[in-house]
Formats: sequence, structure tokens, C-alpha cells
Amino acid sequence: MVIKNAKELFTHLLSDTNNAEKQITKALPKLARAADDPQLAEAFKHHLEETQGQLERLEKVADSLPDIRIKRMKCHAMEGLIEEGQELIDATEKGPVRDAGLIGAAQKVEHYEIATYGTLCALAEQLGFTEAKNLLAETLKEEKSTDDKLTQLAETLVNKKAG
Ligand SMILES: [Fe+2]
Ligand SMILES: [Fe+2]
Repeated sequence: MVIKNAKELFTHLLSDTNNAEKQITKALPKLARAADDPQLAEAFKHHLEETQGQLERLEKVADSLPDIRIKRMKCHAMEGLIEEGQELIDATEKGPVRDAGLIGAAQKVEHYEIATYGTLCALAEQLGFTEAKNLLAETLKEEKSTDDKLTQLAETLVNKKAG
């Protein structure tokens, strides 16, 4: 497929992100089951609900733009990040070491999403897609706060272990 302009690039990235979020909805329940710390498991479950909302929001973004439709495609980067998360689970036993690894793996996903939604927001702004931009900015905010929450959890878990 040839991408000729900013609008086509936006459509491409929107479709890629839609697939990434779908992959994440399948991965988060596994992360929640693998986690030892109940707060961490709860954080994954909470973000699963948020992610389902984010998928609906992507539909709304497409609906707000008459000639843009989400295409079927695979986000290879997300596939790789999730695969590494699974490798980590396979290589560890349930406990604080695995939890630390799960937080790291989840934060890689969040950072990827923050970069993605940042780009989508910038493109939407450039293209004058105001409603789309506002919707995408809401998701960007959720991804950033998820990342912050994971950082806090990492600190709490380290303190628990030390104490
Ligand atoms: Fe997301
Ligand atoms: Fe996320």
C-alpha cells in the first residue's frame, strides 16, 4: 500500500492502533492472572476496561470523519511487545520478581501507545480534525496516567520488599 499524504498516514496509523488495542485487550487478562500483587492485578483489570473504551473511542474517531474508515491490519510492534511479556511470564514464577518484570513489560506497551497517540493527535490537529483530536487526546491522557500508576506500583512493590 502506498501512503501519499497526511490523511492517508492518519488512516494507516489509526488502523494500526485499532489492532494494537485489540491485541492489548487479549493480553491484559493474562497479565492480571500472572500478577502476584493484588493491586497490580487490579491495575491490569482496570486498564482492560479503559482499553475497551479506547477501542470504542477509535470507532468514534472514524465516525467523526466521513471518508475515513479503519482498515484491517496487524500491529507488528505490539505483537512483539506482547510476545516478550509472555516470554517473561514463562521464564518466572509467580512473585515479586515476575511482578517487576510485568510492570516493565506493561510500561513498554504504554510508552508505545503514548508515542502512537501523540502522533495521531498531532496529525489530527494538522488536518483540522478537531473532534478526532479531542477524542485521541482523551486516550493519550489515559495511557499517560496508566504509565504513572505503574511507576507508583513499582515503587510500592520495592518498598514492600525492603520493609
Ligand atoms: Fe490503549
Ligand atoms: Fe494502554
